[in-house]
Formats: sequence, C-alpha cells, structure tokens
Amino acid sequence: MKNSPSLIVALDVNTLAEVRELMERLDPVVDIYKVGSQLFTASGPAAVRFVEARGKKVFLDLKFHDIPNTVASAVSSAVSLNVAIERSSTDYKDRKKPAQQSVFMMTVHTCGGAEMMKAAVEAAAKSADAIGVARPLVVGVTVLTSDSKEANISDLVLERAKLAKAAGLDGVVASCHESKMLRDTFGKDFVIVTPGIRPAGGDAGDQKRIATPAEAKKNGSSFLVVGRPIVAAKDPLAAAKGILSEIN
Ligand code: C5P
Repeated sequence: MKNSPSLIVALDVNTLAEVRELMERLDPVVDIYKVGSQLFTASGPAAVRFVEARGKKVFLDLKFHDIPNTVASAVSSAVSLNVAIERSSTDYKDRKKPAQQSVFMMTVHTCGGAEMMKAAVEAAAKSADAIGVARPLVVGVTVLTSDSKEANISDLVLERAKLAKAAGLDGVVASCHESKMLRDTFGKDFVIVTPGIRPAGGDAGDQKRIATPAEAKKNGSSFLVVGRPIVAAKDPLAAAKGILSEIN
C-alpha cells in the first residue's frame, strides 16, 4: 500500500459535455474518475470511452447486486469495455503503446452474498484473461456512507468485509470511520475505497459518515472518492488541489 491514498473524482453528472468540461479542468491533477449509476444510466459506455480516450482510469461503480449468474455476466461486460474502447478509439492506431486498461476497478454489493461475489471475481478473471488485460480490482460495497451512524455499523461493515475477503474480493468500499479497523484486520494489501470525504468545514449533503481527506489518509484508506466537493465547486481544480494537498 502507498503512504497516501489516491484521489478518485466521481463524475456525478449526466452528459459527456459536462464530463468534458470537468476533465478539461481536472486532468492536470486527477488520474482516476468514477463512472457511477447517474452518468452510466444517462450516457452509457460512451462515458467510459470518453475517460479512457483522455488517458485516464475508470472506477466503474455500478454496485452490482443480483443473482450470481447475472452479476457474473455484468462483470464480464464491464471488463469487455476495455476491448470496445481500444477498438472504438479513433487515435488508438497512432498510439505508441497499447491503450491502458481503463476500467481498473469496479464494485459489487456485499449484500449479494458469498456466491455472488465469488462469481463476480471469477468472471472478472476469466474475461480479463480472454482479452489479455489484467483483472480489474473487484471491491464490495459494505454499508453506504449515507446511512446514519448506528451502534452496530462497524460490526456490520466488518462482517461484510470478512465475507468479501473470503469470497476473493480485493477489498471494500467503506467509510473512514471503519477504515482503520479494516486496515488493522486485513493488512496492507486490502483495498479500502472511502467515499463521504469532505474538506474541513465542507457541506455534508446527504452523507452521514463523513471525514476529511487527512483523517481518511491517517486511517489507511487506499482511495478517496470525492464528488460534490469538487464537481459542484465554483473552481473544481482549486478544490481538487486543496484535497490533494491535504493527502500528500
Ligand atoms: O458527492 P459525494 O462526494 O458525496 O459523492 C460520493 C460518491 O461516492 C457518490 O458517487 C456515491 O455514489 C459514492 N458512494 C458513496 N457511498 C458508498 C459507495 C459509493 O457515497 N458506500
């Protein structure tokens, strides 16, 4: 694990025009973008292609939660986006190196159970192997950071994280409040993705279990997912730089 977590900016917008505007500002300092249910529903795989064409990585956060067979098929489709991207990218032939693997991490929901999570990882490995790319990381959503603080949330997160690890997942999505416990329990290689990040004094919005970038770093998160504090800021680049200076 690196000492500092990596920043992922959540592209929680609807159109590729908005994505372009944000990326034109943020690309100098941001390398990973999250494509989640809002953008994917509105703009589809084109959103993934758009990010890839700008040479950036995609965290595909569609939180799959269905029967094992359906989740396995959805994961395979997500992995195959990498091939579709290479073939559809007009400037691909001119590149000196092959296209980078753009979908490098994706989510399933731990509530789907062990069998579903196992099917997801197996499908990711099989599809990645078939097209000759590295298997994307598969991480499990534990408890949404918009859920309120309840006494047993950390027990629930730990229980779901253990299930995820046993099923072969690479890590989990969890709030900063649980990341220290998860890091201590599962060791340095376990991937911990932490949303609900708010710079000190920032507006919480609908997020309940929030933390500052510095707290998430201290607690051992591997990736910080930040949406509104950057995307809705008057100056997104300045907001991203502020967060990066807190974590680096
Ligand atoms: O705007 P904000 O910074 O609150 O965005 C957080 C992002 O992280 C959203 O895109 C949301 O879907 C995502 N997320 C979350 N809690 C989870 C998993 C993902 O807030 N447990």
